[in-house]
Amino acid sequence: MSEHDSTRDKVSQFYTRAVKSGCGCGCTCTPPQKGEAAKLAGYTADQLAGLPEDAVANSFGCGNPLAFAGVTEGQTVLDLGSGAGIDLLVASRKVGPGGRVIGVDMTDEMIVRARTNAAAAGLTNIDVRQGLIENLPVETASVDWVISNCVVNLSPEKAKVFAEISRVLRPGGQVSISDIVVKDLPTWAKESAALYGACVAGAISEDEYVAGLKDAGLAEVTVLDRIYYDADQLLALVKSEMPESELGCCGPTNGGELAGVMAKALSGRIWSARFHARKA
Ligand SMILES: C[S@@+](CC[C@H](N)C(=O)[O-])C[C@H]1O[C@@H](n2cnc3c(N)ncnc32)[C@H](O)[C@@H]1O
Repeated sequence: MSEHDSTRDKVSQFYTRAVKSGCGCGCTCTPPQKGEAAKLAGYTADQLAGLPEDAVANSFGCGNPLAFAGVTEGQTVLDLGSGAGIDLLVASRKVGPGGRVIGVDMTDEMIVRARTNAAAAGLTNIDVRQGLIENLPVETASVDWVISNCVVNLSPEKAKVFAEISRVLRPGGQVSISDIVVKDLPTWAKESAALYGACVAGAISEDEYVAGLKDAGLAEVTVLDRIYYDADQLLALVKSEMPESELGCCGPTNGGELAGVMAKALSGRIWSARFHARKA
C-alpha cells in the first residue's frame, strides 16, 4: 500500500469509528458530543428542519457550503466526501426533483448512512457513490456545482483533488467548499495522527488553498466567509471530531483534559473558510 493510500485508510477507519461513536476500547467513556460540528457550522433552522436525526447527529462538517450558494432547480450538485449526507439532503431540496445530487465518499459506513438518510427523507434524486475525491467516479464536464464540507484537508494529494474538481465541472460551473485552514500550526499538531483525522494536521493555509484552485485552472477564486472559533468552540469541535479512543480514554490521560490542552494551544491558528470559484 502506498503512503497516500495508507493515510486514506487511516482517515477512513477514523470516520468509521467516529460515526459508530463507540469509544472502541471497552471503557466507560462519555460518547463524543455528536452534532456539535453542525451547530458551529451555521446551518439555518430551515435547512435542518425535517432532516433525519442521524444525518444531523453525524455531521462532521465545519461550514455550510450551500449557505447563499446560488444552486437552482434542475442543476447537478456533486458533494466531495459526503459523509452521512447532511449536505446531500440540503442540496437535494434546492435542486428539486428535476435536479441531481451526487455524493462521493470512500468510507463504507458513511455510504450506508448517506443512502439510508436519503431514503428516510424520501429524496430520490441523490446518488451516493463509493470512490476517492482524488479520482472521482464522475464524468468530465458533467456537474454545475462542486461542494464539499471539511474534506479536502484530509486528502494527502490535494493537487489531484483540485484537478478533479476542475475536470468534472461544466464550463461556468461553480465551487463552494467549506474547509478548515490553518496558520502557523505547531509541529506537534502537524505530526498528530489524531489531529489529522480531526481535520487539523492535514489542513493548509488559505493562500495555499486559493493557489491550488487557481493552479487547477479555476477562475474567480475567493474566500466568501470565515468562521473563527473561540477557545470553548475549539474544544467542543476537537472533542466532537475526535473519537474518544483517539483522546486516550483508556490511557492515563483523561480525554477531556487532553482535548482542552490541544484546543488552547491551537486557538487562533485554525478557522473554517468558505471558498468560491468558477470554471471558465
Ligand atoms: C470530516 S468528514 C465530513 C463529512 C461530511 N462532508 C459532513 O459535512 O458531515 C470527512 C468525510 O470525507 C471522507 N473522505 C476523507 N478523505 C476522502 C478521500 N480521499 N476520498 C473520499 N472520501 C474521503 C470520509 O470518509 C468522511 O466521510
